Amino acid sequence: MTEKIAVILAAGLGKRMNSRRHKVVHEVCGKPMIAHIVDEMKSVGFHRMIVVVGKLEEQVRAVLGDEVTYTRQTEQLGTGHAVMQAVPFLTEDSLTVVLYGDSPLIQKQDVMNLIAKAEESRATTVLTAEVEDPFAYGRIIRAEDGSVERIVEEKDADDVIRQIREVNSGIYAFQTKELLKVLPKMTADNAQGEYLLTDTVAHIRSDGGRVIPVVMKDAGDIANVNDRIQLAHVEKRMQSRILLKHMQNGVTIMDPDHTYVHAEVIIGQDTVLYPGTILEGNTTIGMDCVIGPNSRLVNATLADRVIVQSSVILDSQIEEEASVGPFAYIRPESQIGARAKIGDFVEIKKSAIGEDTKVSHLAYVGDSEVGARVNIGCGVVTVNYDGFVKHKTIIGDDSFIGSNVNLVAPIQIGDGGYVATGSTVTDNVPDDAFAIARERQTTKPDYVKSLKERLRMNSQNGSKSNGQE
Ligand code: UD1
Ligand code: CA
Repeated sequence: MTEKIAVILAAGLGKRMNSRRHKVVHEVCGKPMIAHIVDEMKSVGFHRMIVVVGKLEEQVRAVLGDEVTYTRQTEQLGTGHAVMQAVPFLTEDSLTVVLYGDSPLIQKQDVMNLIAKAEESRATTVLTAEVEDPFAYGRIIRAEDGSVERIVEEKDADDVIRQIREVNSGIYAFQTKELLKVLPKMTADNAQGEYLLTDTVAHIRSDGGRVIPVVMKDAGDIANVNDRIQLAHVEKRMQSRILLKHMQNGVTIMDPDHTYVHAEVIIGQDTVLYPGTILEGNTTIGMDCVIGPNSRLVNATLADRVIVQSSVILDSQIEEEASVGPFAYIRPESQIGARAKIGDFVEIKKSAIGEDTKVSHLAYVGDSEVGARVNIGCGVVTVNYDGFVKHKTIIGDDSFIGSNVNLVAPIQIGDGGYVATGSTVTDNVPDDAFAIARERQTTKPDYVKSLKERLRMNSQNGSKSNGQE
């Protein structure tokens, strides 16, 4: 097998993005564009992947790390000039596959077909597509024998060429020998004043070579991102591809138009996603879960049979059969135990909640360790912050925290402890103890009635004295 080298161009400025971030690190379904390409290409079997970087290269390096080899294009003089920067890494008897870093929809199969054709024909191949709107793409001019005669960029095209709907994807499998021969022949003699990689096609041909077009399986995958409008378009396409994969794997998605799942998310079989579900980052969902409507999970890990309704879960873990929401907020570093219930308007922050524990409504639990089978009443607050530092609350197994209790941390409630409703507890409660910390009730019979009478008489006396003066 021929040695295969990938060269991915990512040195362009991406001016039309109007961004402080490098174009290729912009995310598509939660994953940087360039990472989509590199990951997709991993299984193609390249001996080396070279990424051409330029301005803001540190952003590209931060995404790809040392998975690839970098080469620098100090001045952005065009795609042809960018490929020249990879020359020191190219070996004569190889295939050089060039890809553009702003085309994240590209699929492995198309690249493999392109390579297979290059190996079989011993010619350079280029991936093309027939699109509805060819605007801004390089047009493919075919020779009589069906091979590519040349590629003409939008700016250099006349009206006849502009009508051509077969366009250049920007992905080529060059016979490296041919590439090395033609690169020095390029000039910047065109409307852009740049060294255009597309010109290599005509040069290969005049050297007696042939460039063979390979048509993409799905023309829509050609989409590249030059501005935010195209970014949104690519996002949509990538999103439907991701949802399709999950549906094929046995996930029910009620309304794919209103469900958003990032590229790295894992979802178990027979889980149901209601509309308005947003699953981000490294979220992992078990089997038979029901998520949504309107829920946002970021880096969440859910075991099987978890229910989440209209809630937000960030960087936290939910064990099997637990239920969250409606309207709960689970903040980072929380663990919700098996079969636990986190109900409406409950906020959990950096806390572990034990198995079968219920925090059913209107509570704040922060910096806490809550045992198993605990009942946390309505309106309970763990008072974790004294204005200077955060303190911990520890609640033992089988304990009961009455409604509207303040647990002033640092504090510990023992196993089987019971805190009476309305208490503001500042001292530890031992195992199996009862704690009550509130004023005793005073009831004054007929107090209100006599108060009202006194007030009425006072006001009558007042108006008489006013009248006499
Ligand atoms: C390019 C192609 C066009 C093709 C289209 C497909 C050329 C001349 N044109 O046009 O035929 O239809 O892609 O998407 O190749 N880059 C560098 N250094 C540079 C210039 C660009 O690394 O000096 C990189 C960019 O970061 C980008 C890629 O090359 O990832 C493509 O450049 P871009 O300017 O977006 O080319 P298009 O105008 O889209
Ligand atoms: Ca582009």
